[in-house]
Amino acid sequence: MKKPNQNIKSSSQKPILLISKLHKKYNEGKPNEVHALKGIELSVKKGDMMAIMGASGCGKTTLLNMIGHLDKSSSGSIIIDEVDTSLLSDSKMTAFRRDKIGFIFQLFNLFPFLTAVENVETPLLLSGIRSGLAREQAKMLLRELGMGDRLYHLPTELSGGQQQRVAVARALINQPAIILGDEPTGDLDSATSAEVMDLFRRINRINQQTL
Ligand SMILES: Nc1ncnc2c1ncn2[C@@H]1O[C@H](COP(=O)(O)OP(=O)(O)OP(=O)(O)O)[C@@H](O)[C@H]1O
Ligand SMILES: [Mg+2]
Repeated sequence: MKKPNQNIKSSSQKPILLISKLHKKYNEGKPNEVHALKGIELSVKKGDMMAIMGASGCGKTTLLNMIGHLDKSSSGSIIIDEVDTSLLSDSKMTAFRRDKIGFIFQLFNLFPFLTAVENVETPLLLSGIRSGLAREQAKMLLRELGMGDRLYHLPTELSGGQQQRVAVARALINQPAIILGDEPTGDLDSATSAEVMDLFRRINRINQQTL
């Protein structure tokens, strides 16, 4: 008997993220060396949503920094959307990161002197989209996230959950293949935090983006 969906889904079954034998040592070779990641193996399919859990100091942030290429690994490989990132030059990597990866870090990483809509349109402007179009797309996404009446507020004029929605919109605006969040609900009260998790689930379902 034929298994349902097997043929249709074969191309989307390729992992969007494939990590093998990943090691990270901080201060390598020095007395204060920390071997933070010891041979991580991880495969994540397109459209998956996963959480990395573990005790404080176990290496969660380190792993996200490796996946996001905010810091260099010591050895091992990271393949994103079938591209072995170790083969990219620094300038190619910068563009790759901008196009493929969205970051949602803890609160307060919004640009403080930019309004909500300016924060969200920034990644589009950086990828060369003309400003009128960037503005329209940013407004549309913020409206979808229930922020239509806060477009021109500064981060300090927004609640924690609203700031987080702006941060989420900024991470999503480029339609990245992978969205990384480091304790994205960490500083929020439980109601707001449930709201943000709900938002992630909705995004994950609608856009098939990997979180
Ligand atoms: N820049 C650094 N230099 C040296 N050691 C570091 C550095 N960053 C992290 N470490 C060490 O690497 C280990 C992993 O840290 P990491 O920040 O990844 O942990 P975590 O799982 O995110 O913890 P938490 O839940 O507390 O955020 C820790 O033992 C930490 O002390
Ligand atoms: Mg951490």
